[in-house]
Amino acid sequence: MERLDDVDGLARRRGFYWPSFEIYGGVGGLYDVGQIGLRVKHKLEGIWRRFFLEGLSLPMVEVETPLITPSRVLEASGHVSSFTDPLVECPSCHRVYRADQLLEAKLGVNAEGLGIEELNALFQKNDVRCDACGARLGGVKTFNLLFKTNLGPFTSDVAYVRPETAQGMFTSFKRIFEASRRQLPLGVAQVGRVARNEISPRQSLIRMREFTIMEFEFFFDPADLQAAMSALGDMAAESLNLTLADGRELTLTPMKAVSTSHVKTPWMAYFMEAALQFLLNLGFKSEEVRFVEKGDKERAHYSAQTFDVMIPTKRWGLVEVAGISYRTDYDLRNHSIKSGQDLSVSVTLEKPFLQASRRVVAHADAVRVDFGEHSGEVLAAISTLDPSQVGQEVELNLSFGRVRLGPRHFAVQVEERLVSAKKLIPHVVEPSFGSERLLYALLDRSLVIKEGRVVLALPSSVAPYDCSIFPLVKRDDMGSMAKRLESELREAGYSVFYDEDGSIGKRYARSDEIGIPVAITIDQRSLEDNSVTVRDRDSWKQWRARSSELAEILRRVLSGKSLISLGLEEFSRRPPKGKKAGG
Ligand code: ATP
Ligand code: GLY
Repeated sequence: MERLDDVDGLARRRGFYWPSFEIYGGVGGLYDVGQIGLRVKHKLEGIWRRFFLEGLSLPMVEVETPLITPSRVLEASGHVSSFTDPLVECPSCHRVYRADQLLEAKLGVNAEGLGIEELNALFQKNDVRCDACGARLGGVKTFNLLFKTNLGPFTSDVAYVRPETAQGMFTSFKRIFEASRRQLPLGVAQVGRVARNEISPRQSLIRMREFTIMEFEFFFDPADLQAAMSALGDMAAESLNLTLADGRELTLTPMKAVSTSHVKTPWMAYFMEAALQFLLNLGFKSEEVRFVEKGDKERAHYSAQTFDVMIPTKRWGLVEVAGISYRTDYDLRNHSIKSGQDLSVSVTLEKPFLQASRRVVAHADAVRVDFGEHSGEVLAAISTLDPSQVGQEVELNLSFGRVRLGPRHFAVQVEERLVSAKKLIPHVVEPSFGSERLLYALLDRSLVIKEGRVVLALPSSVAPYDCSIFPLVKRDDMGSMAKRLESELREAGYSVFYDEDGSIGKRYARSDEIGIPVAITIDQRSLEDNSVTVRDRDSWKQWRARSSELAEILRRVLSGKSLISLGLEEFSRRPPKGKKAGG
């Protein structure tokens, strides 16, 4: 029997998500997001956009680029050669495993990033065997996670489904830069599907073969520390729980993390702090969020430093919901070289400065008087003199003999020029969140069992509906009042889940299981005095409220207030008992 606290079971039953193509037996790592889950996912993405793109007072834009990516782009980015995982296949039953993860599960060692030989040695030394048939495992191979396809009918036109949205933003960076205010820093965001041919995806939404990434590339001038430090200084600084690559655990403010060089660039620390604040907004606690630095061998090929953002789940332990990487100028530089296009930008300097330059100028008249028919050769020789080397006088060996030139023949002039712009290839910090992993983590932490029933205590900001509305019993008069209130609330901008099927207990149970924070019931008294009951999902307490107050009540609940705090008239009728979960 399905356990009540099984998130996947609840997800299938209530329309959050389920394995895709189920009628054909399902496909590992592919999931449909259902009618309820998609509402939550869209809200998550909305909060991500509001928080990172609008809330940080930084110049941020959002774009959309294709999934299908020509081979040469992913060759330039290094994915064709380096986007790989180690695979081991059972010689007997042919079950495949991701070699490093299998070793981690069996031996409790961190094998991420080890080379093929090191992995094979671990398999041999520890006599690791197949879970399915017990055969001895070994012979680790490298497996590329890119899904390959062709563009048009020609098999020579190889393309891949993008494994990250980032490359579309790098390849169009110049155009985006030109079409915006042509200044750094500039954040370019994208929310979109990506695909990775994961070797053995057996962990629900944690490891999918196609999923949604919310990420941005934050382009900046690495020499401009001032901009990053002042942004960092302006932040409310909640300390970051860090696990460094060498295993040390430290809790530091982002400022301290930079000044001690544990975090390599201030923008990285800035976005680690921002990621923490974003997760706090979603109801996670700061002590739950941990930033785990990846070691040299574990990091992606493009990264100079990466922190994984980890949060705990009941089923899968610590789960990475985001990666924050310092990609330096790796991608733009490689695309510049491989495409032959100059992807450097010219930016206006905040503090223009005067640059002095020296130049040797000939006094042509004096040269002509002194050197007559040879003056052309002398003038040419003067024009090649190096202004930084030449003194008051020089001696030159020319075709007609040795000559001595002095202040009568040339002068070194100093010119000053105002420098107000400079050219550079920007550096990049990239925070990259997985939508479905975040969705899973939210469901996992919100699922509580109360008196043998499932309640999904989602923060109201991500609940699939703002409220549910029920007529107490299926009667025309109560139904039409409930419908009228439903449309009034919709017009006021609230999302409403209308339900009149089954007993009121079952309807409360259904509403609780999909995480709707407030349930409104129309009963006999409603018909007499226009009041309704308002029920809180988490405490199951009920209050009486005038129907005209509902929009205001919802406004307050959605802004984070509890129903209890609103001073409504308590209503003591307990909800009738419904069937246990699934009613
Ligand atoms: P992992 O180490 O778990 O394979 P990763 O380090 O390869 O993940 P990133 O490349 O940093 O992951 O991808 C950015 C984010 O995308 C991750 O933090 C995660 O939230 C999400 N993500 C990555 N791979 C998957 C996947 N297979 N299924 C669902 N989400 C994923
Ligand atoms: N764009 C970072 C990643 O998906 O790995």
